[in-house]
Amino acid sequence: MSERGKFSAEVAAFARAAGSLERDPRVRNPDLFAPLLLSRGFRGALWPGLRPLAVGIYRWILPGLYAYQQARTREIDRHVLDGLRGGARQLVILGAGLDSRAWRFADELRGGHAWEVDLPTTGRWKRDRLHRLGQSSDHVTFVSMDFTRDALADALARHGCDLGQPTVFVWSGVTYYLPRASVESTLRELAHFAAGSSLVFDYLFESARRDPASHYGAREFFRRVARVGEPVHFAVERTALGGWLGAHDFRFEDDAGPEELARAHLVRSDGTMLGRIFEGFGIARATRRDALLPGR
Ligand SMILES: C[S@@+](CC[C@H](N)C(=O)[O-])C[C@H]1O[C@@H](n2cnc3c(N)ncnc32)[C@H](O)[C@@H]1O
Repeated sequence: MSERGKFSAEVAAFARAAGSLERDPRVRNPDLFAPLLLSRGFRGALWPGLRPLAVGIYRWILPGLYAYQQARTREIDRHVLDGLRGGARQLVILGAGLDSRAWRFADELRGGHAWEVDLPTTGRWKRDRLHRLGQSSDHVTFVSMDFTRDALADALARHGCDLGQPTVFVWSGVTYYLPRASVESTLRELAHFAAGSSLVFDYLFESARRDPASHYGAREFFRRVARVGEPVHFAVERTALGGWLGAHDFRFEDDAGPEELARAHLVRSDGTMLGRIFEGFGIARATRRDALLPGR
């Protein structure tokens, strides 16, 4: 378990780091922290003389994922900023890996607080990185837990998170690695939070799991993640998403699939595309509906 989360977190952060160095601002992602958080080997691959080759290899090994990571970063940033500008002062990053939003959006938190939830080994590894960078984490609390075993709301409350306050939750790059029961139990935990809290997450289309050959990048992705010990589990049909979220006390707000993400985030200034996007993921936003019914 220990190396699994770390590797996938760093592979995701590498794509963000390389994407933050794209020349064209229309497709460049704003995660300037990502290069700093990488380990030496990955950071070395960002050197200008090596980067085109490293990105080329990344695209060859995981077709569509480089473009997807750029679009996902920008899409989720947009939702998080909406939530924080809408008044939320608590930000919770689930399965945080090398996510840097707690630092990038420190100003938008306006004196609020962020919590980063991750497996103990991944969380420790990130804290070491931040410490070495001399980066202050006073406004961030690290919560060690396992979505497959532990109760999220309790863990957050024990670490000072106020369940009565509207909160922005980010769950990026995690749901598909978890069993369905763990995704659903985590959603049930989030339903303990104040109405108006929002959740942005990405998810795998059931159609891609069922028929990877018809979704660009899916076959290679499934093969690679299984090989590093993080096989894909959870998927949901896009058309069933609203009903599924509703059954867990969330209201479905919107969802962007590959076409919408590509149109919004991957068109360069000259009209060409940054690259073809992985066709198996959607990014959805949901809000907590009402207070829990008594007895639930
Ligand atoms: C692919 S990485 C994504 C990291 C980050 N959210 C991003 O978008 O770059 C998956 C993250 O989920 C965490 N994770 C995986 N399984 C988990 C579990 N059962 N409980 C808590 N965290 C988990 C891993 O440690 C890792 O940080």
